[in-house]
Amino acid sequence: MTSERKRILTGVRPTGALHLGHYAGALENWIRLQHEYECYFLIADYQVSDYANDIERVRRSVFDVALDWLSVGLDPEGSHYVIESQVPEHAELTLWLSWWIGLGRLERNPTLKAEMADVEAKLDAVPVAFFNYPVMQVANILMPRAHLVPVGEDQAPHIELTREVARRFNRMFGGDREIFPVPEAMIGRVPRLVGLDGNAKMSKSLGNTIDLRDSTEDVTRKVMSMYTDPTRLRATDPGHVEGNPLFMYHDAFNPDVAQVNDFKERYLAGRVGDVEVKRALAKAINDLLEPFRERRAYYLANPQLVREALAAGTEVGRRTAQETMALVRDAIGLDYLADHSRWWPPSS
Ligand code: TRP
Repeated sequence: MTSERKRILTGVRPTGALHLGHYAGALENWIRLQHEYECYFLIADYQVSDYANDIERVRRSVFDVALDWLSVGLDPEGSHYVIESQVPEHAELTLWLSWWIGLGRLERNPTLKAEMADVEAKLDAVPVAFFNYPVMQVANILMPRAHLVPVGEDQAPHIELTREVARRFNRMFGGDREIFPVPEAMIGRVPRLVGLDGNAKMSKSLGNTIDLRDSTEDVTRKVMSMYTDPTRLRATDPGHVEGNPLFMYHDAFNPDVAQVNDFKERYLAGRVGDVEVKRALAKAINDLLEPFRERRAYYLANPQLVREALAAGTEVGRRTAQETMALVRDAIGLDYLADHSRWWPPSS
């Protein structure tokens, strides 16, 4: 099943429903590129802190993610849905790589830095696994020897680290071979989508998301109560378009550019109310999500297909991982048992 196409590795941590931020920041690229590349879509369950106390939630979230992916049209026939922990080679490679990545290098990673601040506020001891997770992400990308990593903007520092590690590993152990391609990052059309509440980021933990699984009514209700221009009290007041989440969403999700431009002009001039602009936005988002809802209903009625997508993809992921680890062990020189001349005569 491995092919001559170049490979994509990307993924998410299974922490619940995927939302419009995931879609515009990354998923859209995955859908567009899925036939051009051989794709490994990873559900990175080793990297979820809920493991410490809520394994049930992790287990459910793995299926939630798969269901969201199937709903948006990531074809599990052409690509591989891989559950990370079911391919323990990810853990093994993480451990080897952790010898070649310094703590200082991790501390300069802005994503980790931000998350570290969060964690320290909540826990009195940061789990060791927390330091491992960017290393593990490097291992994830190197595992299928990926060429391209389409992700949201917040993940870019991890890919930069992966590039360094790939170059270094090739230099140290590759001889004349390139064991790992140096992967490129690809950031989505909307690198960072604002939240419904105007917060800089749409995020589950902030409760400001539109989820891909939301019903028509949910979407409409959420859009109608969305944060817009706080300086504008009446529909006849001239409003602000720049920096207004309502228009950022129109730009991101309404394909009718003429309508969007007309709204912007009238908004600036105080000739349209928020309600009319919001109604049109709710419609545009619902039009986008409707085909996802139909596919979702199909898979909800056929849950064995979700399981099969995960089982088949994970199987391919495992085979590829075994190939890669054979290359890695050979390159590092871990062939202790190959032949006794490797250790005979004993060192004095
Ligand atoms: N850290 C990513 C997230 O939180 C998920 C992820 C894990 C990932 N491993 C990856 C993304 C490798 C891209 C490549 O969404």
